[in-house]
Amino acid sequence: MSPAFTARLAERTKGVTSSAIREILKVATRPDVTSFAGGLPAPELFPLDAIREAADRVLSGHGAAALQYGATDGVLALRQHIAEAVSDSEAGAAAAAGLGAPERLTPDQVMITTGSQQALDLISKLLIDPGDVVGTENPSYLGGLQAFRLHQARLIAVAMDHEGARPDSLASTVGPEAKFIYLLPTFQNPTGKSMSNARRLAVAATLAEVGVPVVEDDPYGALYFDAPPGPSLRSLVPDLALGLGTFSKTLAPGLRLGWIVGPREVIAKLTQLKQSGDLHSSTLCQYVALDVLRSGAMSAHLERLRAVTARGQTRCLQHSTSTSRPKCVSLVRRAACSCGSSCRAALRRLRSCPWRSRRRRPHSCPARRSIPTAAAATPCGSTSPTPRPT
Ligand SMILES: Cc1ncc(COP(=O)(O)O)c(C=O)c1O
Repeated sequence: MSPAFTARLAERTKGVTSSAIREILKVATRPDVTSFAGGLPAPELFPLDAIREAADRVLSGHGAAALQYGATDGVLALRQHIAEAVSDSEAGAAAAAGLGAPERLTPDQVMITTGSQQALDLISKLLIDPGDVVGTENPSYLGGLQAFRLHQARLIAVAMDHEGARPDSLASTVGPEAKFIYLLPTFQNPTGKSMSNARRLAVAATLAEVGVPVVEDDPYGALYFDAPPGPSLRSLVPDLALGLGTFSKTLAPGLRLGWIVGPREVIAKLTQLKQSGDLHSSTLCQYVALDVLRSGAMSAHLERLRAVTARGQTRCLQHSTSTSRPKCVSLVRRAACSCGSSCRAALRRLRSCPWRSRRRRPHSCPARRSIPTAAAATPCGSTSPTPRPT
């Protein structure tokens, strides 16, 4: 950068380095690397036909409206659809857990964002002043940490166990002065851990007791293999929670569409902040996503995603041996993520690997060495007080 710009950098941007995610993705796209590190959905599972047909219908049906500027909080019909869908899934989870039905969401409690990454940035803009405390799991999603750090938050790690964040640690490490706690109770990134119903209730009770808001990020919840996940923290403490969702893992990340659900006054404030960022998320993509949802193609696509990635995981587990991965890496996760294609690619390479049967030299094989994943990994010794992503 030229000295004229270097000398003028804003204080908050001075420490900003290139995102670790972007660095990971650079390596992940190399043909000789099988990477599980980024949350890259399997491209061969994108619903290309459904999206193509939806785009055709949108352009012939909505025409110019789909290409015009739109409302900052998003296309109303899409917000209505998300309000209904999230409310239905929350009601189902509550019933399965033996809880009463949570209050249903209305469209003014939903805001469309340009991916949930924008949601993390907007929430940081809304709540974080330099030096403010934000509680996070340890490890946690790199993109979230990056957004909070850019706004100069002081990150405090919450202790984890096999179910994720521990409620006792929430209470003892993150006091009422914290701006919020960032949690991923379902298929946590990067560990893949999920909270049981009891843990969700305990965490919600602690949040209510301490009075600290929670930002609940849930990009993978719809990709479960067996039973749907338990009740969202959002449904348990609606006044204290902002829930983040995205179409990146269920439809395609290139659409750049996500959402925030929460108290309507907070959504209204976030909408004001979004205006100065990008005016609104792509109108065309919103209409296309809405059409896919309405056409019924989405539920069939989700079934396929769950089935294909569950098979990929099973095969990957069968082929993984203790010699091909460090002890700290767990390949067991109960959700689909990017593993579908990555597992298949890894297995193809393993089968053609000349070292495959030479048990005494397992690490000599470069293909084997690249199999351990960060997407489902608990980093060795991840108990340091500062969150250590992936
Ligand atoms: C936990 C988590 N949050 C947010 C995101 C960002 O997703 P989006 O593509 O919706 O911006 C990701 C992407 O991998 C993620 O894993």
